[in-house]
Order: sequence, then structure tokens, then C-alpha cells
Amino acid sequence: MQFKQALAALAGLVFAASAHTQAAWPAKAVTLVVPFAAGGPTDVVARTLAASMSKTLGQTVVVENKLGAGGTVAAGSVAKSPPDGYTFFIHHNGMATSTALYRKLSYDPLNDFEFVSQAVDVPMTMLARKDFPAANLQEMVAYIKANKDKINVATAGLGAVSQLCGMLFQRAIGVQLTEVPFQGTAPAMNALLGGQVDVLCDQTTQTIPQIKAGNVKLYGVTTKNRIKSLPNAPTLAEQGLKDFEVVVWHGIYAPKGTPKPIIERMNAAVRAALKDPDVAKRMEDLGAEIVPDSKLSPEGLQSWLKSEIDKWGPIIKAGGKFAD
Ligand code: MLT
Repeated sequence: MQFKQALAALAGLVFAASAHTQAAWPAKAVTLVVPFAAGGPTDVVARTLAASMSKTLGQTVVVENKLGAGGTVAAGSVAKSPPDGYTFFIHHNGMATSTALYRKLSYDPLNDFEFVSQAVDVPMTMLARKDFPAANLQEMVAYIKANKDKINVATAGLGAVSQLCGMLFQRAIGVQLTEVPFQGTAPAMNALLGGQVDVLCDQTTQTIPQIKAGNVKLYGVTTKNRIKSLPNAPTLAEQGLKDFEVVVWHGIYAPKGTPKPIIERMNAAVRAALKDPDVAKRMEDLGAEIVPDSKLSPEGLQSWLKSEIDKWGPIIKAGGKFAD
């Protein structure tokens, strides 16, 4: 009896301690890991959200860029981080596509993370360097086909959406080009601006300013329909690349075991950020669309990730491109 009472008292103490930790959370800065280079599209979304979330949480949300292997280095590192509520992770479609692209991953996207929320969807744009000798998509494709040994495509590595889009584009036009991997599309864009690479498919969150400044050539958007932020840009599908569609979605995760009350507070902070007029304006200017409420729950992200793994797996495997 005495033993049982002692056990109950101990359990009470543990519960009180953990409730106290959670009530006090966040007691210090919270890290949001970005799996690509600073200044790129994932980083832009992360920093825009982090600035607003810092206000809601009363502590700074610090963005940390952890680079390598198309986002899989960061995902593996976050999966092994302590589930104490101070490490979070933002990633896009790569969380799903990497399961098909890599023979072995050091983490399981569906079982090694807690799910916080989705945030924004972002269209992609098919670009070439400014002096690329083609005025429209038809000419671009013809030029690539005639010069396929000389043309290269910049990507942010296997697992990046730039690589996914580039791969689908090559498949759609029936060529295989040299892919040049960078640690994010920020350095890839610099290479495109400098004329060291020829083609880049990248998100509007990075490309709109360069397109508007006339620093790159735009050949179309990867969405099903034309987009508000680039109303004159035709879709790739309407120009003959039948059913070509890539939309980038973003999810926020935490290491498995992060306490539920913390996940709920983080979820509320993401929702508040997406309602912040400064965030909404910045996202709109960059062509990003805030996702509907149904995608903002942890369960919404979890089931979305599962459906994306199921969707992309067979498409990627059909291309036969794998890494160890
Ligand atoms: C990608 O290509 O997957 C990302 O846009 C890379 C990045 O955010 O730099």
C-alpha cells in the first residue's frame, strides 16, 4: 500500500514537472530547421513565418539552414533531435519524394516525426538564363533537343522540388540532360544569373523578383491553371506538356515524442502567422497561397504526407533514378 502511494506521488511529481515545462514553453529560442540554403524559396517561407511566430510565442524562432542531399541531411538530423519542443523542421514535397528517390534514408517520414501543420502552396516556374536562344516553350524544347549534350539543368539535389520538376520536364520532352546539383536554389539561381547553368525550374517565392526584373527567361508555370502573380505566363500544360503539374506544399514537423501541448501551441502560432496581414501580403506578392484550414491540423499534414508518398512513389520509380 505504502509502495503504491509512493508510486502515485512520484507519478504526480513527474506529471507536475512535465506540465510545468510545457506551461513554461518556450523558455528560450525555438529552432526552425530549413533543409536548403539561406535566401532560397524554403528559407523565404520559413523566415516570413518565423518573424510572425516569434511575436505569438514570445520567443525568437531562429531559422537554421542545415544543408545537404536534397533535404535528407536535415530531416535525418531533426528526427534524432531531442523532442523537447525546441527543434522544428520545415520541408516540402521532398519529405514524400525522398522515400522513392533514396534506397535508404536515416529516418522514416511518417513515423519519426510529430506533425504540426501545413502552411503555403507555391507554384513553380520554368526558367532559362537570360540569353537562352528561345522565345517561347516550343523554341526552348526544340533548342534543348538539338543541343542536349550541351544543356544543363540546375537543381537543389535529389529530393528537391527543383530536381523533381527538372526530371519531369526532361521526361516530358524526351531528353536526358546533365543535372547540376546545388545546396539550395539560392545558389542555383546565382549560377543561372551568372550564365553558368542553362535551365532551372524553381518556386515563385524566389523567382518572381528575378522574372519581373528581366534577369531570367520565363517559359511557363507548372500549375494546372495560370496564376494571379504572373497572369501572362502560360502553363506548361497549355503549351503542350500534357498534364504537367507540380505544386510545392510545405509542412512543419517536430521530432517524434514532442509533447502534444507544445505541438498544439506551435500549430496555433503557425495559424496566427498565416492570418498576419504582413505575412499574407508577402506570401501573395511571392505567388504563395495560404492553404485552407482543413490542411492546417497535424492530422491534415499527416494524411497529406501519406497521400503524397503514395502519389509520387510510382511516378519517380518509373524514372529509375535512385541514390543510396
Ligand atoms: C527545392 O528546389 O527543393 C527548393 O526550392 C530548394 C530551396 O529551398 O533552396
